[in-house]
Amino acid sequence: MDTIIQEKKGLQTDELPLLGTDHIEFYVGNAKQSAHYYQTAFGYELVAYKGLETGSKDLCSYVLQQGKIRLVLTTAMIPNHPVAEHVMKHGDGVKVLALWVDDAAKSYEVALSRGAVSAQAPFTLSDEHGEVKMASICTYGDTIHTFVERKNYSGAFLPGFMKKESLMEVKPIGLKYVDHCVGNVGWGKMNDWVEFYQKVMGFDLLITFDDKDISTEYTALMSKVVSNGNGYVKFPINEPAEGRKKSQIEEYLDFYGSAGVQHIAIATDNILETVAQLRKNGVEFLHVPDNYYDTVLDRVGTIDENLEDLKALNILIDRDDEGYLLQIFTKPVQDRPTVFYEIIQRKGALSFGKGNFKALFEAIEREQELRGTL
Ligand code: FE2
Repeated sequence: MDTIIQEKKGLQTDELPLLGTDHIEFYVGNAKQSAHYYQTAFGYELVAYKGLETGSKDLCSYVLQQGKIRLVLTTAMIPNHPVAEHVMKHGDGVKVLALWVDDAAKSYEVALSRGAVSAQAPFTLSDEHGEVKMASICTYGDTIHTFVERKNYSGAFLPGFMKKESLMEVKPIGLKYVDHCVGNVGWGKMNDWVEFYQKVMGFDLLITFDDKDISTEYTALMSKVVSNGNGYVKFPINEPAEGRKKSQIEEYLDFYGSAGVQHIAIATDNILETVAQLRKNGVEFLHVPDNYYDTVLDRVGTIDENLEDLKALNILIDRDDEGYLLQIFTKPVQDRPTVFYEIIQRKGALSFGKGNFKALFEAIEREQELRGTL
């Protein structure tokens, strides 16, 4: 079976409309130090904080922002806490993919009526800046989706958080918004989760990649991309496929201890500047051999950028019917080989870089070889 790009149908009336990604919350071992990394390496600005000083005795959270992207880094300050247990099992990782909605309670009820499992019933938080309504449902692994309704709130993040600014001079590097968030699920589970997003969330199946699309001499995986009606929220779902050696998805599942978020793709309008700055700040990227650039223009045709500039930063190029895209992948951003980032600049293309899969997966295999996990 070849790659199938589905005709996007869209629901006639979207009963679970999503306005976009509200925030992404990581549970981490040391939020203070993680917050420093995201400020110095990725150019996020600290905007809000919760901890002992705000009366939060068991949890500490830092909220970072750049463009429309909001990251929350949360750590437990006591041992027997679900956040501490999450970190013990998974290492640092994404707990919450929060979705911005107009009506959190209704979103939750619609999702539950369609078969979602509750993670937290609707509740309201309020302070002098107004109120925020939230409710959460379970998705793959220990990951949850929180519906956030913030139309009646004007504070820094959520009630309970205080406004807090970066202590150092932060240089934003052009990160604009979350393009897509990818989940890795276990053997044979991809279709179950695709069905979850279709049935419960009303998403459309956008693209199917089978193991022939995504394989190298040694390893393989399968992937399907689901998207909400307005296309603001896109979730590719990967599962491992049989190969001669251990796929990167299996490696992830082993180290994360369950299904979970594999990578977050962040959009930029100027990938050359963004990646040059990230490299200067010490962010590590997967390396694709220089010979990739010998033939890439035969495949993608004319591009606006100078190929030598892209080669110098090891940025990859792909084209589809709509246009082209530029992309690059970081190495994992914590010690376990789990979560990483993609930086993507879309110049018309709506796809995900299929033409680069082989070169990328060979690059990941070289990393797996070094880790002894291939
Ligand atoms: Fe991606």
